[in-house]
Amino acid sequence: MNKQKYDDASTNDSYFWRLVQERRSIRRYQPRPISRSLLEQILTAALWAPSAHNRQPWRFCVVESDAVKLALSQTMGRRWRQDLAADDAPPETIERRVAISHARITGAAALVTAAVSMDDMDVHPDPKRAKAEWLMAVQSTALACQNLLLAAHHYGLGACWMCAPLFVPDVVRGILNLPETWRPQALITLGYPAEEKQKERLSLGERVLWR
Ligand SMILES: Cc1cc2nc3c(=O)[nH]c(=O)nc-3n(C[C@H](O)[C@H](O)[C@H](O)COP(=O)(O)O)c2cc1C
Repeated sequence: MNKQKYDDASTNDSYFWRLVQERRSIRRYQPRPISRSLLEQILTAALWAPSAHNRQPWRFCVVESDAVKLALSQTMGRRWRQDLAADDAPPETIERRVAISHARITGAAALVTAAVSMDDMDVHPDPKRAKAEWLMAVQSTALACQNLLLAAHHYGLGACWMCAPLFVPDVVRGILNLPETWRPQALITLGYPAEEKQKERLSLGERVLWR
């Protein structure tokens, strides 16, 4: 990177800094579809993330069908209700939380389920290295998702990472008819934004050590 680019970065108004700092998790969307070509663009950005051994362990399933969105939301919602009831959450809290999630999933123009597959990753006989290999695959997939989130923002879309599939991977695999080896990690809701959000971050001093 040349000096001019560093200078731009330090002013925080270069395109790069606006992209990084103005991306927000957007949870409400306009009822406007996203073209297939735009979805392909942001998925292409995801595929250009770095990955452990360049094995690209990420897998994605795009949901455009309203019927599938509904099935996913209803089935995940049933399981979530059970979990919250087991936590002794008040019934009205349970219904409110499930309803918010339902509105978000069914109101999104598209959903992208991100999964990890260990099919092409190294196989280790010992649990310690096997766990590290799994973690590298998950880390790689998270990086792909970040590329996807930034690309969505670049193209004027709102997006939000939902962790729900981590808690009900079997439900997600079943509804989406995913291959057995795909292990769902996240659901990314996508759509043209119907809200604006502001967020702050802690300072370098609160999160970085220098040695
Ligand atoms: C691993 C991970 C899991 C998340 N899970 C959820 C979620 O289940 N529901 C949700 O509304 N947001 C979820 N988020 C979004 C965060 O709440 C959000 O990124 C954070 O509040 C910072 O806001 P920003 O993305 O607008 O900067 C998740 C983000 C990450 C990285």
